[in-house]
Amino acid sequence: MRYHLTTFGCQMNDHDSERMRGLLESQGWSQTGERDDADLILFNTCTIRGSADDRFLGNLGDAKRLKRERPDVVVAVGGCWAQSQKEQIFEQFPFVDVAFGPSELTRLGELVARERIEAVGAFSLDGAFSSDLPARRERPHQAWVQISTGCNCVCTYCIVPSVRGRERSRPAADVVGEVRRVAADGVREVTLLGQNVNSYGRDLPREERATFAELLREVAAVEGVARVRYTSPHPKDMREDVVAAMAECPEVCAHLHLPAQSGSTRILKAMRRTYSRERYLDLVTRLRAAMPDLSLTTDLIVGFPGETDEDFEDTMSLVEEADYDGAYTFLYSPRPGTEAAETLDDDVPAEVKRERIGRLVDLVQATGRARAERFVGREAEVLVEGPSRTDPDLLRGRLEHNITVNFEGAAEPGSLVAVTIDSATSTTLRGRQSKVAALA
Ligand code: 5AD
Ligand code: SF4
Repeated sequence: MRYHLTTFGCQMNDHDSERMRGLLESQGWSQTGERDDADLILFNTCTIRGSADDRFLGNLGDAKRLKRERPDVVVAVGGCWAQSQKEQIFEQFPFVDVAFGPSELTRLGELVARERIEAVGAFSLDGAFSSDLPARRERPHQAWVQISTGCNCVCTYCIVPSVRGRERSRPAADVVGEVRRVAADGVREVTLLGQNVNSYGRDLPREERATFAELLREVAAVEGVARVRYTSPHPKDMREDVVAAMAECPEVCAHLHLPAQSGSTRILKAMRRTYSRERYLDLVTRLRAAMPDLSLTTDLIVGFPGETDEDFEDTMSLVEEADYDGAYTFLYSPRPGTEAAETLDDDVPAEVKRERIGRLVDLVQATGRARAERFVGREAEVLVEGPSRTDPDLLRGRLEHNITVNFEGAAEPGSLVAVTIDSATSTTLRGRQSKVAALA
């Protein structure tokens, strides 16, 4: 019995897909790289923007064709898009056999087994943590560790709270236990995951409660863990104790992905982000004071309802003032059921949105390139990942700043080596391994 899995969306879905693989393989399924050969065609979906829906629906058309050719094949759709569509999936897409939301992943084995009796949908919002399932990690030296699920924010553009539910934190002892297990298994880099990772812990009973800063320190102290990352934090929950934990623990990487969404206080208010441009920039100043070499990346939305030229210029100047190492830029996409989609007109003309995002992307690239230049001439620690994707004679690895380095050298994946950086583009660095032996 063979399965084929396609994953869309964020790191949380990458994490969940590793659990889907682990669960299916523990039940005797094996993976195939070809959808045509699969007995089970599985999708882990995203619905964050309209473009995510479109990408998935193209793939679902392929599954429909295969189901027509081989009616025995099982088509299963999990994740955020499935949750957002609930039972209407089976009416609209009758060839789908199984559908389940992100919280029902632990029941995947049972759902697939029951499929031949009746089509099932499972859409509760508070199922067990998928973290408790076996994982089949794609990368042996890196692990995603889920610390919370769901989100209590009310960002007016965002569909996540309605598909992932209220925020629930995993007890700190469970998180640290999992980190110990993966570290004993050879993992060097751990990424803590949550939809709003740094509001962690507030919902836990007193005896299990830890703050995000305490958790960060505990994870960093686990034997064998060389690097700790986390994503995504909300600026409103970025307290001083978190900044201090980052600055003081050498294992916590000098990189922070801090979504700003807009540089205009007026738009931030309409988004219900609960901070102003000034407060965001004040936070950036405090982060840079504590960690002068910090790499900072962000998410920015262009063309939110009511965004004027002046609002957009505020986003442009935010990029300059925050001096980002990189940014993901998105066109606003009205999501059914969100406050913005229900109450605000998507009134920025398409050509204005396109012109704005073009200018923003150019600026982000220029800032990123200038920032990357600071590494040239430096000897930096690189976690080796494997051969370079573009040149098999080179190795590929990453700085703690989350920048990819292609370099001449000889080292095993998972090792930390010193690399002298010779040149930079906006997204990658080039270098050579120093004569010095591996650092760890
Ligand atoms: N339209 C455009 N971008 C969005 N994002 C979330 N919802 C929307 C939307 N409706 C972006 C935000 C978020 C990232 C994951 O996706 O920038 O941080
Ligand atoms: Fe997509 Fe958001 Fe779901 Fe991640 S949590 S898969 S980004 S909709």
